Amino acid sequence: MIIAIDGPAASGKGTLARLLARHYGLKHLDTGSLYRAVALAILNAGGDPADQACALKIARQMDFNQFSDDELRGAGVGEAASVVAAMPEVRAIMLKRQRAFAAEPPGAVLDGRDIGTIVCPDADVKLFVTALAGVRAGRRFEEAVLRGQDGSYEEVLRDIERRDERDTNRAIAPLKPAADAHLLDTSELDIETAFQAAVRVIDGST
Ligand code: DC
Repeated sequence: MIIAIDGPAASGKGTLARLLARHYGLKHLDTGSLYRAVALAILNAGGDPADQACALKIARQMDFNQFSDDELRGAGVGEAASVVAAMPEVRAIMLKRQRAFAAEPPGAVLDGRDIGTIVCPDADVKLFVTALAGVRAGRRFEEAVLRGQDGSYEEVLRDIERRDERDTNRAIAPLKPAADAHLLDTSELDIETAFQAAVRVIDGST
């Protein structure tokens, strides 16, 4: 079984994907972490995430397991990942990795922006997870505080809105619900309630 989960930053899709993978005995791939890894490798090398030639060179020779989750979630990495993710050649490399992962038994839950539309258009179930930008910024701000990072709620909100704008309006594989995706708005749901709602959708469509 393949479950495709898409949605904007901090919509809850990552946590949901992890819980669903455990519930259904599937593997999980956080596809945003692939773009984050390329972005972080560029930043660590002192490069510019907008430099396509540099991004492509790094993406081709990347060891995708070299960074910890905390490093991938560090300040500025999401923004740089969003810039890198708008490059068609970089996306082509990622597409191969994601499809190979999805094809391995026993199946997988993949979360990202273009899973239901491009990476796994034949997924058994597709969810499009959203929440109001202000709510999403609140979640990311709390995570940053727990991690001891500096910054204000307003900065986090601006970062989220900028990324939404870039991820939604880019020419290649933009963030949008697949025609057959089930919409799940988590603005007023805690994670347990969102998980139960997702399980109802999945059990009802498989
Ligand atoms: O989900 P995230 O915040 O970790 O993703 C980081 C960036 O990577 C996001 O702003 C857009 C990009 N991304 C993408 O373009 N396609 C995906 N399938 C996953 C992430």
